[in-house]
Amino acid sequence: MIVNFLKKINNIPFPLTIKHYFAFDDSTKYLKDGNLSSSESWDILRESHPHFSISDNREEWIKVNEQLIKKDGQDGGLKERAKDVAEILKNNHINSVFSAGCGGAGLEYHLKKNLPEIKLTCSEYSKVAVDKLKKVFLEADSIILFDMKSKDWSVANNLSNPNQNLVLLYRIDIDLSNEEMQKMFKNMYNSGIENVLIILCGRLTLKSLISRLRQRLSWKIKGIRYSFSGYLRSEKKFLEFFDEFYKSEKVVCGGLHGFLLKKINVV
Ligand SMILES: C[S@@+](CC[C@H](N)C(=O)[O-])C[C@H]1O[C@@H](n2cnc3c(N)ncnc32)[C@H](O)[C@@H]1O
Repeated sequence: MIVNFLKKINNIPFPLTIKHYFAFDDSTKYLKDGNLSSSESWDILRESHPHFSISDNREEWIKVNEQLIKKDGQDGGLKERAKDVAEILKNNHINSVFSAGCGGAGLEYHLKKNLPEIKLTCSEYSKVAVDKLKKVFLEADSIILFDMKSKDWSVANNLSNPNQNLVLLYRIDIDLSNEEMQKMFKNMYNSGIENVLIILCGRLTLKSLISRLRQRLSWKIKGIRYSFSGYLRSEKKFLEFFDEFYKSEKVVCGGLHGFLLKKINVV
């Protein structure tokens, strides 16, 4: 009983959003407007910080994705995550995926390895990332420039029948404000997107909240520069973004929590 209570408290049983800060070493001072809220800042970060860079050399890019070289900010759960995503796609008879904000496309690379038959579109709002991916991700069916804040998401349904198509949102939640998240799901709904898999970057728990506050205090004390880099939310907060438009089921993919969403069809 006590364990269940502690789990409930740790999960933060109410909607909560906090700002997220990160110390990007020397890159912090070069970010546009001092934060990570634009494609320009993402490009600067990727050019200046080895841990976040995307390689435009195919051999190196594959080594990064196979986790033989540490780059592109991926964690050790990447391969397992792709297997879990592949399982979800198979179970739901999905035959095409549109990934938004794909970054270096590490997860998408493994997805194509697991399910080569899946039609895959990768998209980004950074032209630099799109140009690099076009050189290295030869297995992708399409790589396009696309802003998740767009009103029209119909491009995401282009490769297949909407019922067999899925929009993949992998670790992009941190980049959008609450208002932007709300609008994005509404726009997807209005554009006829039937299936969405969102895998969270920033799922806030009591434990992670305390550790982040301690980390920030430690940067402050040591005089280390840090910058605003997005939002972290409790699980309950995410439900508010899509509950009106999509039925949700909780999922865990390679250790990261998320939701599989299915469009609510009004009869
Ligand atoms: C935290 S990274 C995640 C990248 C990749 N999905 C992954 O998990 O490795 C967030 C990505 O979203 C992209 N992004 C941020 N805002 C965006 C927007 N409005 N439209 C499209 N991409 C966006 C950034 O360029 C960045 O590559």
